[in-house]
Amino acid sequence: MPIIAVSNQTGGVGKTTSTLNLGAALQGAGKRVLLVDLDPQGNLSVAAGLLQPEALSPSIGDLLVQAARPGAGIPNARAAIVRSPAGLDIIPANSQLSAAELALVSAISRESALHTVLLPLLPDYDFVLMDCLPSLSLLVVNAFTAADGIIIPVQADYLAMQGLAQVMETIAAVQTRLNPQLQIFGILLTMVDQRTSHSREVVSTIRQAFADQIRVFDAEIRLHVVLKDSTKAGLSIREYDPQSAGAIAYDRLAAELIEFVDSRGPTTPRNQRAAAAAVVLPSFTPPPPTPPAPLSAPAPEAEAPVATLSPEAPPIAEPVPEPPVARSRTTRTEPLRFAEFLAGRDGWLGRGDQ
Ligand SMILES: Nc1ncnc2c1ncn2[C@@H]1O[C@H](COP(=O)(O)OP(=O)(O)OP(=O)(O)O)[C@@H](O)[C@H]1O
Ligand SMILES: [Mg+2]
Repeated sequence: MPIIAVSNQTGGVGKTTSTLNLGAALQGAGKRVLLVDLDPQGNLSVAAGLLQPEALSPSIGDLLVQAARPGAGIPNARAAIVRSPAGLDIIPANSQLSAAELALVSAISRESALHTVLLPLLPDYDFVLMDCLPSLSLLVVNAFTAADGIIIPVQADYLAMQGLAQVMETIAAVQTRLNPQLQIFGILLTMVDQRTSHSREVVSTIRQAFADQIRVFDAEIRLHVVLKDSTKAGLSIREYDPQSAGAIAYDRLAAELIEFVDSRGPTTPRNQRAAAAAVVLPSFTPPPPTPPAPLSAPAPEAEAPVATLSPEAPPIAEPVPEPPVARSRTTRTEPLRFAEFLAGRDGWLGRGDQ
């Protein structure tokens, strides 16, 4: 029963869409699935057909507020599970989750509250999928602390790829300080548009850069408008259009994930994990932007150079400028710098060392 965080601090890369549709595909494959909405906007709840998440109580925010209160005991997470119209179990989120984040800041076990909340539910489910918000907030640190693995959806787009380096840093920090057995289960390429060379180049760059280091799922999620339509209808793509290429792609992803999880053997309970060694993550340097072609001799689009991260063409040795913090209109929390994380002075991870 792995707990999986679907996370990328870059907004709009398909985290919520993938959590819902992967969850539905896993359920279609006979697995018992719990979805956890970890975004105060409640996008996953709405996408799963719970149209008024603000009216739902208790929500994940209520559970975390209780977990943060000294002496309040372990909250009853079962009371928060809602069966979505499409038959998926989900713990919804709403604005109470923002209040919970504030409450957690001063809590004693501020990074592990979510794990405490979810632990009693684990015997009931084969997969727990958490849809993270696009930030490096304390909520995401909680998700990584609770998780056995992370799925990182990456939009097949150059700027979205830039955010990967920061995700890796955050994961490494949590591995070192809080959850040594945390693994990256895989990178999921989303919104792949096979018609454009840009999209194809990003796909090939990511596949080459991580070959033999981090799994990049074979299943790719292409750009399908029907995925937007199904979300709007409050249904997974499996219910909305089971024959569509999008539904088939998420079924493939589910099959790959099940095979991978089965190959790992049973999940080690967290209380037996303490002595495990940290997993060393490969370093990832985003490729520099492709320089524009000279005006006098414009290169045809199909021949644009592929960004170099392959073993044959190693990354440029010169220091690459700090990638810009990827922001979107949906990035709602000020991202933490990695140095703050490790310094622990103002970052979220300092308390455990004191
Ligand atoms: N494969 C796809 N093809 C077409 N549209 C997609 C696809 N995946 C997601 N979308 C659409 O892209 C938008 C962003 O997707 P989604 O909400 O899943 O991203 P997110 O990473 O969860 O965003 P946020 O960071 O805001 O939480 C939505 O409108 C969604 O319907
Ligand atoms: Mg989302």
